Amino acid sequence: MFDKLTLRDMELKGKRVLLRVDFNVPLNSNLQITNDKRIRETLPTINYLIERGAKIIIVSHLGRPEGKVMPEFSLKPVAEHLRTLLKKPIMLANDVAGSETYKYVRTMQAGDIVMMENVRFDPREEENDAEFAKELAGIADVYCNDAFGTMHRTHTSTCKIAEYLPSCVGFLVEKELSVLGGALSNPKRPFVVIIGGAKIKDKIALISRLIDVADVVLIGGAMAYTFLRAQGFSMGRSVVEKDKIQLARLLLEKAKMQGVKIVLPIDHVVTGEFSFSAHSVNVSTKKFPRAGIGMDIGPATTRLFKYYISKAHTVLWNGPLGVAEFHKFAKGTDEVAKALAEAKAFTIIGGGDSAKCVEQLKLQSQINHISTGGGASLKLLESGSLPGLDGIANKGGM
Ligand code: 3PG
Repeated sequence: MFDKLTLRDMELKGKRVLLRVDFNVPLNSNLQITNDKRIRETLPTINYLIERGAKIIIVSHLGRPEGKVMPEFSLKPVAEHLRTLLKKPIMLANDVAGSETYKYVRTMQAGDIVMMENVRFDPREEENDAEFAKELAGIADVYCNDAFGTMHRTHTSTCKIAEYLPSCVGFLVEKELSVLGGALSNPKRPFVVIIGGAKIKDKIALISRLIDVADVVLIGGAMAYTFLRAQGFSMGRSVVEKDKIQLARLLLEKAKMQGVKIVLPIDHVVTGEFSFSAHSVNVSTKKFPRAGIGMDIGPATTRLFKYYISKAHTVLWNGPLGVAEFHKFAKGTDEVAKALAEAKAFTIIGGGDSAKCVEQLKLQSQINHISTGGGASLKLLESGSLPGLDGIANKGGM
């Protein structure tokens, strides 16, 4: 589906390569990295550049400093961690394409690594600004975008810059495109999609697009209540998006016309109040109590979802199936994560909360692909492209 130029297509020896990565990693209050997946996943790209004798200039954002220099968003902890992982010195400039960056870049030798400070310290980063793009491009010969998690943002260092340098994608982006693009264009069937989360409005485009490619769509999370309401069930005091009931009906209709099975919860974990410790009961969809609030899928639904997962050859999962931030109501989500880990299918997790759940359960190694970008994978799956890909040529021309 995607055939973008990669590092393998570029002349790299002795070239200064501006490598945009997404090192927007979680930090604790002591500014220690609590999950380094995004850093580790760019190592193949960085090592390849080192082996090919390139001079590597790393650009990343961290958090949302909104165009101001804020020490708590410094890339210092990231640079230190990368040094440890690569066992190599890394020069961290204290500016963004400023005098210190220039000073370091001027003296670089093949295989050296310079990192700029957080690119979002410059307000022009989020403006997709031509002048800033030229400044960044001015210190490099080649641009490589390996920042999959940020490719849904139309920012200077993810988009505009590609207009000013020979550009390509890195190996992390190549892998994400191949797996997520492959699921959209040529999945091994049966292709089962699991969609959860609170609101239909956030996932309309995703559901609609996935109905076009999936064989079965399992729906959980609060959005399932709006679908069930569209089918005429009363969902008590559960979160129902009243203005989206008609849309839910249309999506159900679309699936029916395309011969795609939509599976909604047949039972629920229900409480009388929205609280992490509320007393709960299991009820069927048909007997949903008037004052009840749905908090999780019930055991019969979990079994049903597991059945479809066990029959699948490809499974894609995006979004929790209940109020998973409350331990008591994370059971359905956890059980589905375990079913994915045990499945014979090729399993894909679209980043975000579902990825966190799998990581908490320490099941990462049993999932075929966990995307490094929650927002980016959602955007790619729903629209079939990403702003960060637009400026990068396909192999054999645009
Ligand atoms: C992410 O973590 O989703 C990416 O790094 C993008 O960050 P942003 O949502 O602040 O643009």
